[in-house]
Amino acid sequence: MAAFQAPSSISSSSSTFLVHNGFSLRSSKICPPRSRTWVLKCVAAPPNSETAHKTKVSRNENMAKLQAGYLFPEIARRRSAHLLKYPDAKVISLGIGDTTEPIPDVITSAMAWRSRALSTIEGYSGYGAEQGEQKLRAAIASTYYGDLGIEEADIFVSDGAKCDISRLQMLFGSNVTMAVQDPSYPAYVDSSVIMGQTGEYYNDIKKYGNIEYMRCTPENGFFPNLSTTSKTDIIFFCSPNNPTGSTASRDQLTQLVQFARESGSIIVYDSAYAMYISDDSPRSIFEIPGAKEVAIETSSFSKYAGFTGVRLGWTVVPKELLFSNGFPVAKDFNRIVCTCFNGASNISQAGGLACLSPDGLKAMGDVINFYKENTAIIVDTFTSLGFNVYGGKNAPYVWVHFPGRSSWDVFAEILEKTHLVTTPGSGFGPGGEGFIRVSAFGHRENVLEACKRLKQLYK
Ligand SMILES: Cc1ncc(COP(=O)(O)O)c(C=O)c1O
Repeated sequence: MAAFQAPSSISSSSSTFLVHNGFSLRSSKICPPRSRTWVLKCVAAPPNSETAHKTKVSRNENMAKLQAGYLFPEIARRRSAHLLKYPDAKVISLGIGDTTEPIPDVITSAMAWRSRALSTIEGYSGYGAEQGEQKLRAAIASTYYGDLGIEEADIFVSDGAKCDISRLQMLFGSNVTMAVQDPSYPAYVDSSVIMGQTGEYYNDIKKYGNIEYMRCTPENGFFPNLSTTSKTDIIFFCSPNNPTGSTASRDQLTQLVQFARESGSIIVYDSAYAMYISDDSPRSIFEIPGAKEVAIETSSFSKYAGFTGVRLGWTVVPKELLFSNGFPVAKDFNRIVCTCFNGASNISQAGGLACLSPDGLKAMGDVINFYKENTAIIVDTFTSLGFNVYGGKNAPYVWVHFPGRSSWDVFAEILEKTHLVTTPGSGFGPGGEGFIRVSAFGHRENVLEACKRLKQLYK
């Protein structure tokens, strides 16, 4: 795959959006808090282990296998340490993939209305269906899977894709083998470790035993070489990809589905960024013939509607997907959902329904276009500085190559010299070494300022 060349200017339709919506969104009547509290410590400091009372409960040995904390808390820790060193620095984060722009009014109004209704006898509702409200399941099925044969009953509404990834791991249990793209979103590997599916971590190769790491590099167009990929029970596959920003083509996904059919595997397809696709790449694995018998798809409103805090997602488990003994996977997933989850918040679901109304879809599209313009600005900046830049076309992530350098060193250099937070590629797996991920989620003025600083650093 060739490095993506950003358009040198922002499209006129996008500029119109900026003028009419982009910045005015931020001056809406309701002012959200502007500053974000960064958490230095996720958990309280433990007492002195020599003197403190200890229970007789052994630590889960799988937890002990996990490496050096989850990536983003580590980034937050370094950011906080940087702020202690430079208290007056205006730190800009293009690191963690959290959305920054306000949720469109058409969506928050629906949530506000539902929230107010909860204060009335007629409008009150308590526990809902664990699988989600029928109207929302139907709207997701028709909006995203209209002619793909996915029905309302195949959709499980959730509190987000990350939570569903863990619930899926619980469904599969500890005896399955799994494959991941390398690099990949860390939740697949970490949840697999926690479930006990993996062996120990090998520090020399930065890999866990018993995981098939499917290397995705510029050389193979960020699509794994399936002819050398070991067969596993489960294949996690994310497109558009976090962190590389690459998108698998129809032909590549056809190969993947064929590979899964031949191997007897189940693909867990993460389409959390599908709405960022602007070319004819598939937006769902179910666009590929035969996928319903080998794939589950998980997705989310987080990056479409700014629901990272609201929390709403969904997972599609087609009725056609069967275990080796013929038992429907959806029936077991339903059992897991009913056991571990009491349904997504009714307020969030009202928001989700509003997202899928004609006005909501238009509003989500506008916010996505805003982030895509940010992406183009970032791609343009790194390209003009002579870097090889990948992704950024169908995804809000830009994957920048620093050949021969350690990702954490580049991360530290950029933070130290420009007060910008990025994400070290190696945090997504050994295949990410030598890259940094730059997220396009940010206010426009911050993205422009960040690019100015990067141009000064690398000119
Ligand atoms: C690939 C991918 N899947 C899932 C998630 C989590 O989504 P949610 O907010 O719905 O839990 C993210 C969040 O960054 C992601 O990048």
